[in-house]
Amino acid sequence: MKSIPGIGLSDVQKVYSGPEGELWELVMGEQIHIGGFVSSMDLAEKAQIRQGMKGVDLCCCNGAGMRFLVRFRGVAKMTGVDATPKVIEHGRRRCADEGLADRIEFVHADVCDTGLPSECADFVWGEDAWCYVVDKPKLIAEAARLVHPGGVVAFTDWVEGPTGLTDAEAERFLRFMKFPNVQNIQGYSQLLADNGCHVALAEDTGRFPVYVDLYLDMLNKQLTYDALKIIGFDMALLEAMGKEMMFMRELAHARKIMQAIFVAPKTR
Ligand SMILES: C[S@@+](CC[C@H](N)C(=O)[O-])C[C@H]1O[C@@H](n2cnc3c(N)ncnc32)[C@H](O)[C@@H]1O
Repeated sequence: MKSIPGIGLSDVQKVYSGPEGELWELVMGEQIHIGGFVSSMDLAEKAQIRQGMKGVDLCCCNGAGMRFLVRFRGVAKMTGVDATPKVIEHGRRRCADEGLADRIEFVHADVCDTGLPSECADFVWGEDAWCYVVDKPKLIAEAARLVHPGGVVAFTDWVEGPTGLTDAEAERFLRFMKFPNVQNIQGYSQLLADNGCHVALAEDTGRFPVYVDLYLDMLNKQLTYDALKIIGFDMALLEAMGKEMMFMRELAHARKIMQAIFVAPKTR
């Protein structure tokens, strides 16, 4: 696993409390993960998320993934855990506006220590967010603790691809994204197995290259003014961010980074 020093939870909270988080939502929509609805439906299908289930979304942000699960999979009850008060506030408001507040609750906590009861969920859910978490072993142990035997841990995440990042590439990518580290498929699979989960699926979704092209196109061809407005019309900053996005595009096309999907039933 590639790591860099000096990035922690407070950096992530700053991102999602300010303009950077707003920029991600401008480009990706309410569901801040690669593939939006398509990716959520794919994960739900593969994890067999069904009517009446109870789930926990770790790093739920504004709760768009939970609203998707309640609306489109008939999930009975979702509990979302996030460490950034601002996104929770937005999430509660959106759930209330959409009449879903009785089925979706938010907990303000670090996902490594949620305070939720053991085996309270049929499934634990995560979408492109666990890359922000410093302590991956603690995170996976917490996810497995929350699911009852027979339940499932299901998530997508940004991981290092088979080509591998050089140290310099990892430093530049992780610092731009405010990720303290980046796992790979083998690393996550080992952690899941260590915590009593059978890794039924762990693979590249193949989405990253296509979607990073789309995001760059949106920023360069349609949403430039809106993006500039969010960052106080700072042209130099937008250009600098564009450069880092182009660098990320190169990494994705070279399969040095990718979006991976994991479905891991808990067996014991
Ligand atoms: C990319 S957003 C999540 C997107 C969301 N899963 C979706 O699909 O729309 C990342 C979120 O992770 C949260 N986060 C990062 N590290 C965390 C931690 N250790 N504990 C709780 N939340 C964390 C941030 O506050 C932020 O809201």
